[in-house]
Amino acid sequence: MIEIPGVLDAEGVARVRAIIDGAQWIDGNATSGRQSALAKRNAQLPELSAEAREAGGLVLDALGRAPLFIAAALPFKIFPPLFNRYAPGDAFGTHVDNAIRIQRGSDFRIRSDLSATLFLADPASYDGGELVVEGRFGVQSARLAAGSLLLYPASTLHRVEPVTRGERVACFFWVQSMVRDDGARQLLFDLDSAVQAVAADRGQDDAAVIQLTGVYHNLLRRWADA
Ligand code: NI
Repeated sequence: MIEIPGVLDAEGVARVRAIIDGAQWIDGNATSGRQSALAKRNAQLPELSAEAREAGGLVLDALGRAPLFIAAALPFKIFPPLFNRYAPGDAFGTHVDNAIRIQRGSDFRIRSDLSATLFLADPASYDGGELVVEGRFGVQSARLAAGSLLLYPASTLHRVEPVTRGERVACFFWVQSMVRDDGARQLLFDLDSAVQAVAADRGQDDAAVIQLTGVYHNLLRRWADA
């Protein structure tokens, strides 16, 4: 589970909220598989609505400017971002995301390697609504600042705890990564982070930094489908 702070700044969050808050919301089960429909209680923007497309475009632009997201996800395809809202009593019980996502009304499809939630409400403005992810290394729970993104393997069991006050508003989407295997992708991310740290110390033109950068790209070449 990787936290990416500040994907949207306060102004970006306000712009997205201004677009989506006044839109027409529908029952969140519009995008559910049969099993998750049983567990899901929230509202969602229709995926083809003008507001979802406009706000989704702002999110995609912001992701393109977020080097930590690129390094962690190594995105090949990103599903057009969707938006949901949990009012008091709403929740999403434990489920696993569908492996293949097909965009309504088009032939765009992706394999969901990573799930992402971009938080769009100030955590002080609501209670509950934690995103709980049951990964290989135990159970982790998050409730991030508005504008921050949580990235986690789509293969995990996860849930959203009931909201008890206020409204939890978020953007969510799936990523097909160039590197399908979670372990290989994590190794590349760790290597990249370490190379950046050493480069900050020794400079980009240091011989060992150049060699390690080569190792990174040669591993990526070996493991990536692009
Ligand atoms: Ni899910």
